[in-house]
Amino acid sequence: MKDWASNSHLLLWCCCWWWSGKANKTVLETVSSKRTTLFPRFLSRNVYTRGALFGSQHLSTSTLVAQVCCGDRVGRLFFPNNFSYQRTLRRAMAWLSRGRNQAELVKALKENGLIKTERVEKTLLTVDRGYFCKYRPYEDSPQPIGWNATISAPHMHVTCLELLNEHLKPGSKVLDIGSGSGYLTACMGVMVRPKGLVVGIEHIPGLARQSIENIEKSQKDLLDEGVVRIVVGDGRKGYPEEAPFDAIHVGAAAGTAPRVLLDQLAPGGRMLIPEGTMEQELVQYDKAEDGTISKRHITFVRYVPLCSPEQQIRGI
Ligand SMILES: C[S@@+](CC[C@H](N)C(=O)[O-])C[C@H]1O[C@@H](n2cnc3c(N)ncnc32)[C@H](O)[C@@H]1O
Repeated sequence: MKDWASNSHLLLWCCCWWWSGKANKTVLETVSSKRTTLFPRFLSRNVYTRGALFGSQHLSTSTLVAQVCCGDRVGRLFFPNNFSYQRTLRRAMAWLSRGRNQAELVKALKENGLIKTERVEKTLLTVDRGYFCKYRPYEDSPQPIGWNATISAPHMHVTCLELLNEHLKPGSKVLDIGSGSGYLTACMGVMVRPKGLVVGIEHIPGLARQSIENIEKSQKDLLDEGVVRIVVGDGRKGYPEEAPFDAIHVGAAAGTAPRVLLDQLAPGGRMLIPEGTMEQELVQYDKAEDGTISKRHITFVRYVPLCSPEQQIRGI
């Protein structure tokens, strides 16, 4: 009798779990698709992010209401720490933006409000992520590329390309630190050609070689025309040989932005860098024409650290 009761209790619990997941999914889809009409602009600004969180089966619909109405700060109260918040967000993002090919992935990223400009959309349609990672290339999540590194999630690539859009003009000079798979480097190459230059700097020689092979398969002309150059080196020092840069993207997290990188930014230039160790945020630095620097918080993120090759291989 006792066994029967506990088994039926377990069965009931499983049904509730399954049902709450389905209900959350429906609410999330409604919120995502109607976000511009259902909510005033100030509320809908982060509805995608908030809604994505509640796509997770771990959260209740009441939490969704709290998150949508009160924003990230309240949403975060439901997580033990920023890491689990980010992990839940990443899982939900992967579920929301995915496709069977690059075109479908781009369509999903656009429908979910991440791609904002035609220029970034065209760039992503030109550079197929399938050439840059072996596993689940058309899912919105980071994927392993070897040597304890990952290709960043498409939504991070999109966020960075949108933020740097105005600084990635034909003829611009760009530095991509921690170029990894070479995906973002190639995208930026597409945006600055003709005549521009994107230097991808990677400290693991094997990864640098692999990224050149990836770009050769995808956009060989960028290498042939000298628009994209991959170099092996310590990105923490920047690349003084080609400084100053109109845009600098750092693909790994530093405690705080190294001064030397800000020095290599041209007046009018912009740098994006993840800062922090466990708790990380994507930070935007803008250098005015008179050399003054302003700083802006963009979003919370989780990147591998900007470190030495030994530390990375050991997996610090
Ligand atoms: C998140 S991963 C790759 C990001 C890249 N944008 C992509 O999507 O493929 C970060 C990269 O930074 C590299 N990295 C870490 N520390 C570095 C350093 N000091 N100098 C250069 N590259 C570094 C890692 O090897 C790794 O490839």
